[in-house]
Amino acid sequence: MNKAVRSAVIAGNWKMNKTPAETTALINEMKPLVADADCKVVLCVPFIDIPAAVEAAKGSNIEIGAENVHFKESGAYTGEVSAQMLIESGVKYVVVGHSERRQYFGETDQTVNLRTLAAVNAGLTAIVCVGETLEQRELGYTETLLKFQTKMALTNISADQLKNIIIAYEPVWAIGTGVTATADQANQGNGYVREAIAEVYGKAVAETVTVQYGGSMNAKNADELVAMEHVDGGLIGGASLKAPDFAAIVKAASK
Ligand code: PGA
Repeated sequence: MNKAVRSAVIAGNWKMNKTPAETTALINEMKPLVADADCKVVLCVPFIDIPAAVEAAKGSNIEIGAENVHFKESGAYTGEVSAQMLIESGVKYVVVGHSERRQYFGETDQTVNLRTLAAVNAGLTAIVCVGETLEQRELGYTETLLKFQTKMALTNISADQLKNIIIAYEPVWAIGTGVTATADQANQGNGYVREAIAEVYGKAVAETVTVQYGGSMNAKNADELVAMEHVDGGLIGGASLKAPDFAAIVKAASK
């Protein structure tokens, strides 16, 4: 296993936080703190904050992402945003299938797949989220579920398109709860995701795919998590809203 063949990506997921003015202020605060990063640095922000984020991040090593994308190019889909709209706005990444969207907005493995396809076909990098609930874990279905979600999300994605796919393993019980998976649990979950990719695309291809961990990753536990064999960075919620904490995580992934 050669971790050096994969890029570590630290991506903030701001969720429904920060106004456009707050976006400008936070990115300006972050820019100098992450300027020396030896990993990719991404901030996924609410749609309305994208112009401010792109403007504030100009000339820096911070790239901007969105938190969702629709699967059609255009049409009667009130409240939705297309991949082309995101690209034209300067967006490079998009979170797809976050557990909050699966839980509150009727996202299914099928719509996650369609959104992933729309994103990569348009030239965005999709950060596809998978993860088990506590109940599923306790029933012993973690491996089955992670492999199923991963394979479903990647249906009709070519091996070549995997270059524009990041999978984020986010155990639902660890998101926003302050309960982080242990480094071993994170590594095991990420390992299942990589195995699922290997089962479809072969081991060599699977070794090149960035698999993040997400769920209460913070300035204190990031070092241990990102050092694990299968953990290629993280998707960060709460700690991405504080510049020093986010910068500490970026630093951990840069070692
Ligand atoms: P958290 O969120 O870091 O606040 O747990 C992670 C996520 O939902 O992506």
